[in-house]
Amino acid sequence: MAPAIQHGSLLEGDTVSPLSTRSRSLAWGLCFLLALAPAALRAQAPAPTGGEGSTPEGIQVPKPPFSEGIFPCTNCHDGKTVKLNTQRRQLKDMHDDIVLKHGPASRWCLDCHDAKDRDKLHLVSGEKIDFTVSYRLCGQCHGDKYRDWRVGVHGKRTGHWNGQKQYLLCVNCHNPHSPHFRPLKPMPPPVPPQLIQATKGGAR
Ligand code: HEC
Ligand code: HEC
Ligand code: HEC
Ligand code: HEC
Repeated sequence: MAPAIQHGSLLEGDTVSPLSTRSRSLAWGLCFLLALAPAALRAQAPAPTGGEGSTPEGIQVPKPPFSEGIFPCTNCHDGKTVKLNTQRRQLKDMHDDIVLKHGPASRWCLDCHDAKDRDKLHLVSGEKIDFTVSYRLCGQCHGDKYRDWRVGVHGKRTGHWNGQKQYLLCVNCHNPHSPHFRPLKPMPPPVPPQLIQATKGGAR
């Protein structure tokens, strides 16, 4: 910001340095503000996991659509209550309602969920991410949809064209475990009016 002030004074034909008293106090003011800014941002920062808010990239997203009471996962997955088991298996004591039907059959829960920190997802690089940015996980394999989503072509984006925008998460619309939409059963076609009249008394 300080260079911008210098640039402005250059245009007015001033010498580059020293800064005028006015711009110097302005510069100090800016420094002061900049020093304050991180603290202010931190105060407003969203809850680190599972909460509604703005992601590190400034994208406004809703609260991840968890079932009631399931989050934080570490209530059970603390390494003691539920022991870590990385074996691919049929789950029976919990989550037996989750059917994994997403891509190759070799896929397992821990490809997406972090084994050691169950309140997080992880990318293929091993980087742990919050559930609020689950779109980054999806974006690894669905790059085209991720790109479209970011520019508001896929999914749902609301807000200002030149200001803040709100996005629905991929998982607001797609079940991450079984994302394929079931085909809708077609409804029978409407009865044409002449057929309604052709029936006795007009009633059907
Ligand atoms: C493709 C990545 C992926 C795989 C594979 C996957 N999950 Fe998930 N899972 C997610 C994402 C993303 C969410 C977060 C949904 C949300 O934000 O509400 C989630 C949510 C959950 C939840 C919370 C569900 C609820 O009712 O709110 C549980 C429990 C869970 N997963 C367990 C599992 C289990 C068990 C498996 C393996 C059988 C599995 N997941 C496989 C991505 C995955
Ligand atoms: C009420 C306790 C409880 C909560 C809360 C819970 N889990 Fe589990 N979870 C279990 C149990 C018990 C198993 C083992 C089930 C079995 O082996 O049949 C399990 C297994 C899993 C597995 C399979 C891999 C493994 O470690 O055994 C995944 C993945 C998983 N849970 C993810 C989640 C996620 C993600 C959440 C939070 C959104 C969550 N769980 C919340 C109890 C819980
Ligand atoms: C590791 C790679 C990978 C990740 C991560 C991943 N997917 Fe997928 N996804 C696939 C593959 C592979 C298929 C199957 C493609 C096919 O059948 O044409 C698929 C299928 C889908 C489909 C169904 C397409 C159809 O034919 O109906 C949707 C929707 C989808 N994924 C959404 C998501 C969402 C949302 C996430 C994040 C929670 C996600 N995916 C994460 C690999 C991935
Ligand atoms: C507002 C709801 C909504 C959101 C948010 C959303 N989608 Fe979709 N998505 C849909 C619908 C509806 C379809 C099916 C119609 C279509 O093909 O466009 C679809 C289709 C898909 C397909 C299958 C397309 C195909 O070619 O068969 C993939 C993969 C997918 N979405 C991934 C994603 C990912 C990844 C995100 C997040 C970055 C996301 N979606 C966000 C509603 C949504």
